[in-house]
Amino acid sequence: MLPYLETFQQLASQYFHQERPVSDPINAAQLSQIVDFNLGTEGAELADLKRAAGQYLDYQPDTAQVDFFKLLYSGRNNPALLGDWVTSLSNANMHTYQMSPVATLMEQELINQWNRLVGFTSVANMGDGVMVSGGSQANLIAMMMARHQVCPELRSKGFGGQVLVAFVSDQAHYSAQKAANVLGIGTENLIAVASDDQGRLSPIALKKAVEQSIDQGHTPFFIGLTAGTTVLGAFDPVPECRSIADQYNLWLHIDGAWGAPVLFSQKHKHLLKGCELADSFAWDAHKLMNVPITAAVILTRHADVLTQTCGGGGTDYLFHADENSAHNLGQKSIQCGRRADALKVWLSWKAIGSNGFENKIDQLQDIKLGCVAAIETSPHLHMIGPAPYLNVLFQFRPSALLDEAQLRQLNIAICKQMQAEGGAFVDYAKYQGKTGIRLILGNSDTQTSDIRRLLSHCIKTGQNLSS
Ligand SMILES: Cc1ncc(COP(=O)(O)O)c(C=O)c1O
Repeated sequence: MLPYLETFQQLASQYFHQERPVSDPINAAQLSQIVDFNLGTEGAELADLKRAAGQYLDYQPDTAQVDFFKLLYSGRNNPALLGDWVTSLSNANMHTYQMSPVATLMEQELINQWNRLVGFTSVANMGDGVMVSGGSQANLIAMMMARHQVCPELRSKGFGGQVLVAFVSDQAHYSAQKAANVLGIGTENLIAVASDDQGRLSPIALKKAVEQSIDQGHTPFFIGLTAGTTVLGAFDPVPECRSIADQYNLWLHIDGAWGAPVLFSQKHKHLLKGCELADSFAWDAHKLMNVPITAAVILTRHADVLTQTCGGGGTDYLFHADENSAHNLGQKSIQCGRRADALKVWLSWKAIGSNGFENKIDQLQDIKLGCVAAIETSPHLHMIGPAPYLNVLFQFRPSALLDEAQLRQLNIAICKQMQAEGGAFVDYAKYQGKTGIRLILGNSDTQTSDIRRLLSHCIKTGQNLSS
């Protein structure tokens, strides 16, 4: 073991001390020339493994840098990193308390805390939950619980010819489509309800769509709202949609994969007003809480539905009736083997407390406001959607008049050029037919000066490309 530990220490030390660009846009053919990807019949020396692991790090985008704006997370969470290392060392398995005693109790504490923040804590409805691999799995399980509520016999008998219909906004994450596919709902029975001019699901359009599905003889069963949409960061209106869910007896889910952490902030939690009225809630710790991937949770305010929906099997050999069996989490999960993601989340929460996350959100929201103001006062940059959260979507427009297709081409080229120059790593996205640069504020080390530098780089690159 010792040589491997020493190798890891050397690689980690090099990694933390070396200067490197945020990302190296190397293509697959070039990379295949550099790294020996072949697996053979004979084993290799530790030196070969060390070289490969070093190359892995060399060509990996560095998401810890403040210039990484591409995805819904950025920065380094050191307590969580410690937790991730220890988790691998332990190789714990979360199906039973026996195989993960400390991590099981940590996960239960996390679920209690998350439920408390969401408001799934009334006496009649003590919240439940289980950690999952990400928002996609959380959304899948939410739809599965809703399906179980409307058709409990479906888990054993399969579909009996009924058409179940689910509703999300046209801004929802594509994981809703995956869930409809996996659960046999059919992606054509997932209705993309129109959003309003702020990117929020329109309750009027939702009601109409639900009634239309009833008129067609179908069975509506699920409304999936988003708290923090992927492109704009919009928050769908919860109370209005709860009324519709109650009227037609539908499950109301909130996908808070990205936006849930606003609940830490006294100043910004109004964005999720009414979230305690939902039936289930998805929360990614590997997005704004910046815990290394993967770490997420599905919460529900209904005590037994998770176990009724996901449980079954394994009692012959795994889930023994011992003194701690009430703590076994395996029957709430669709997985058997499950990594102990709780430790890294618990350590990072313990390290900074909920106040630490509150400060991060408040600080990033202030920086966002400054960023939007800078764009709005620039003659070269234009917001192409509202920015209620930590997503800023804007376009560079040159003095010459360009049509939307040309602007798209130019703004994509700006993103690529900045990356190639070793500058910021940002992505582009489309909203209502316009393609812009999507800036995500997720790194607590980001300063206003980093944003100013990025915007100047966008303008300079745009001017060079369009001259
Ligand atoms: C709103 C939203 N929901 C769900 C997901 C999927 O989460 P994950 O990547 O953890 O599966 C994303 C990913 O970006 C997202 O933005």
